[in-house]
Amino acid sequence: MRYTLNHAELFTANRQRLKTLLPPNALVLLLSNDVYPRSADGHYPFRQDPDLFYLTGIDQEDTYLLLYPDCPREDLREVLFLRRTSETIAIWEGPRLTQSEACARSGIKTIKWNDEFDSIVNIVMCYAEQVFLNLNEHDRLVNEVPYRSLRFARALQDRFPLHQYRRLAPLMHQLRSIKMPQELELIKKAIAITEKAFRRVLQFIRPGVMEYEIEAEITHEFLRNGASGHAYQPIIASGKNACILHYINNNQPCRDGELVLMDFGAEYANYVADLSRTVPVNGRFTPRQREVYDAVLRVMRQAKNLLRPGTNLHEYNTKLVGQIMEEELLKLGLLKTEEVKNQDPENPAYKKYFMHGTSHYLGLDVHDVGSRFATIQPGMVFTCEPGIYIPEEGFGIRLENNILVTEDEPVDLMAGIPIEAEEIEALMAARPS
Ligand code: GLY
Ligand code: MN
Ligand code: MN
Repeated sequence: MRYTLNHAELFTANRQRLKTLLPPNALVLLLSNDVYPRSADGHYPFRQDPDLFYLTGIDQEDTYLLLYPDCPREDLREVLFLRRTSETIAIWEGPRLTQSEACARSGIKTIKWNDEFDSIVNIVMCYAEQVFLNLNEHDRLVNEVPYRSLRFARALQDRFPLHQYRRLAPLMHQLRSIKMPQELELIKKAIAITEKAFRRVLQFIRPGVMEYEIEAEITHEFLRNGASGHAYQPIIASGKNACILHYINNNQPCRDGELVLMDFGAEYANYVADLSRTVPVNGRFTPRQREVYDAVLRVMRQAKNLLRPGTNLHEYNTKLVGQIMEEELLKLGLLKTEEVKNQDPENPAYKKYFMHGTSHYLGLDVHDVGSRFATIQPGMVFTCEPGIYIPEEGFGIRLENNILVTEDEPVDLMAGIPIEAEEIEALMAARPS
């Protein structure tokens, strides 16, 4: 870990809020993510299960959480299980959390080694009626890999087929979608690091640099500022590559006269930022690039202002922003009035140039959990990321900021990151030669 948190109060409050959503005599069991094998004896870097992190603050593999507020045995109402440390593990991998460190970090009083987990599960299953288990439920998820929580859910149901099993995910989504003040501070920290990286690349980009060199500058700035790395695979897409929405090859030269679309965000203490900026490789927009850039910026300004209590993300993404984008595409001459008049409402004409949604939840995951049909509420954080992609003209433009919903005006958490075309040009004009 490259951060220090003193947030036991936050994690304790998170558990408390979850307990208020549980029915009587309910048991919750939550497991950390797998450490995924790569090849030979190598592994991919570990990333904690965000729900387990949210409830414990523990960023270590092989960690389990048991919550059972009505357990007749008082000592088993809230238990954290840790990987047992040893001299050998300390020598090869470095020290793991001690029980008192885990207690200080999470606010959980009862800490046990995880070789006791099975026997304690056996005990509490004899008392509990309903068992809440957590699966990765995300409506954009496509997954063929049986991960640890799924294997555990199957094994537990096999051992105890007569219990009533319930889904924890909807409760976690409800909780995680409203950010607590300490969580907002961590998102702001990830944003501050992301801003530094953007300012750095503005001084670096010029004709001839490779897309991966820009990525390297960003990675450098992230790591030197304490980020664990990228929140997702960064997109550094010059010229027509910007029209490939999930372009991550980042292996082409940036050419004079082209734009380069960059979509990247730092991860700090498991919280993430998600920024997109599109800038001219030579430091000056052409009149046409500028015309489209300003159109995207106008859509963003109007769209972010709609992120207010009352609507929901589905309506906002499919109807409200679509109308704004449609007007701009008509003004740019990319759509014709007739085309719009005769369009299929299920597949509106603007989709030809703007084919993705405008906003998603943001937090412990980049496409964070939360229902797109839930009413938007203060404390929610969303991206706002309109784009216009014109492959026939060889460029695509996306601008993306992170927005906090409040009772009043939405707060743009990235308001300080340069976005006006003039400001980008002025900063790039000051590049070292
Ligand atoms: N970077 C992924 C997204 O913008 O949704
Ligand atoms: Mn993004
Ligand atoms: Mn995004």
